[in-house]
Amino acid sequence: MIYSEKVMEHFQNPRNVGTIKNADGIGKVGSPICGDVMAFYIKVKDNRIEDVKFQTFGCGAAIAVSSMVSEMVKGKTIEEAMKITNMDVAEELGGLPKKKLHCSNLGADALHEAIKNYKQRKRDLKKEKPEKPRRSEE
Ligand code: FES
Repeated sequence: MIYSEKVMEHFQNPRNVGTIKNADGIGKVGSPICGDVMAFYIKVKDNRIEDVKFQTFGCGAAIAVSSMVSEMVKGKTIEEAMKITNMDVAEELGGLPKKKLHCSNLGADALHEAIKNYKQRKRDLKKEKPEKPRRSEE
């Protein structure tokens, strides 16, 4: 199996490995094909992804994919990050062997789950703290 130089480089030196304490959003997905799992943690400020970390319990290709996703989304707006597809990630890595394409499916999916989780938390927070009425009842 032949991997691109970029895949090998990200696999050997993965960026942004770990977790974020008090993350604003967490997304986890598992591959139905191999059972491997990927988790993304994001910190959001002013609608931008300020920080991102991941944990991947999977093959080398999946680690390279997560590392690449984490680099691609840092500094992006939530909307821009939602538009990143698994194909974009595989392309950015210089391609993946056919048998390993399912590994790249975890990347953007896990990131999107983290963003959805962030949005859900924001909605929940709004429900907990309803806006104050503008005028007092006095
Ligand atoms: S073999 Fe499971 S993610 Fe690659």
